Amino acid sequence: MKKILVTRRLLRSNEDRIKELYDANLNLNDELYSQDKLIELSQGCDGVLSALTDKLDEKTINRLPKSVKILSNFAVGFGNIDLEAAKKKNIIVTNTPEVLTDATAEIGVLLILGACRRASEGIQGARDADWKWSADYLIGKQLTGARLGILGMGRIGQKIAKIAKSLGMIVHYHNRSKLSADKENGSIYHDNLKSLMEVSDVLSVCCPASKETINLINKETLEYLPKGAVVTNVARGDIVDDEALIDALDRRKVYAVGLDVYKGEPNLNPGYLKHKSAFILPHLGSATKETRTAMANLAIDNLEEFFKSGSCKNKVN
Ligand code: DGY
Repeated sequence: MKKILVTRRLLRSNEDRIKELYDANLNLNDELYSQDKLIELSQGCDGVLSALTDKLDEKTINRLPKSVKILSNFAVGFGNIDLEAAKKKNIIVTNTPEVLTDATAEIGVLLILGACRRASEGIQGARDADWKWSADYLIGKQLTGARLGILGMGRIGQKIAKIAKSLGMIVHYHNRSKLSADKENGSIYHDNLKSLMEVSDVLSVCCPASKETINLINKETLEYLPKGAVVTNVARGDIVDDEALIDALDRRKVYAVGLDVYKGEPNLNPGYLKHKSAFILPHLGSATKETRTAMANLAIDNLEEFFKSGSCKNKVN
């Protein structure tokens, strides 16, 4: 029986399944393993079912035992893993695409709504019983007719576009390449980031974190936005230069932010906390029972496929 290290707790049904299929080393206390502990626990393992909280950088990957042949990441994003280092060690890395598209897009839309309609301030006022209705109380930005710029029109971006259109938003996007007409579905393509940002009343960051996208939203690119734009990020914190975004909030260049992901999670830049207009969530993108179950099942399917065939359709390196 193959031996698998599972670095974080999974939902019960998923843990039951992996225990049936493998000699699974589960993390019943859901402890956040240090890199040393992860290396120690992976001795003798054939694979690791990792999570986005595991920093599998080059140094850590090089210290993994030779027996480890697959890192099955329990996420669609894989910015936590150095893909090249894994490839050099002949370790395949897999992810869990598609199954989390809908749930993550829902949170992407919640960020847009929450930031534009001042949900943080509203929740605080209601909880503190510190409000009274008036014609100008917490006036926000209406989505109907506003231009939404989607940075990264993959599956999640496309789903956000679909919902945003149903809310009356006009959708623009920038992607490495223009989508086919059916996938584009009336959204307007921009072949460069500047041109997208110039028309984004609301920006939705949906692209993967990679060497090319780290700090793509920075001091310079934020200036392309119209004054009073809203910036949301449902992808990865690494794509945003926090200091630059907080400065843009301070200067009211940016009206509000909606964030689900952060550099150095679970910590976030305290500069966001002083802004009432920051609508912030704790990385809830895929957090529904259906989706987390499907993601873990796919991560297990990826192990199964790899051990049977030597490869996997969800291989990313
Ligand atoms: C992912 O899978 O990359 C999501 O961010 C998880 O919530």
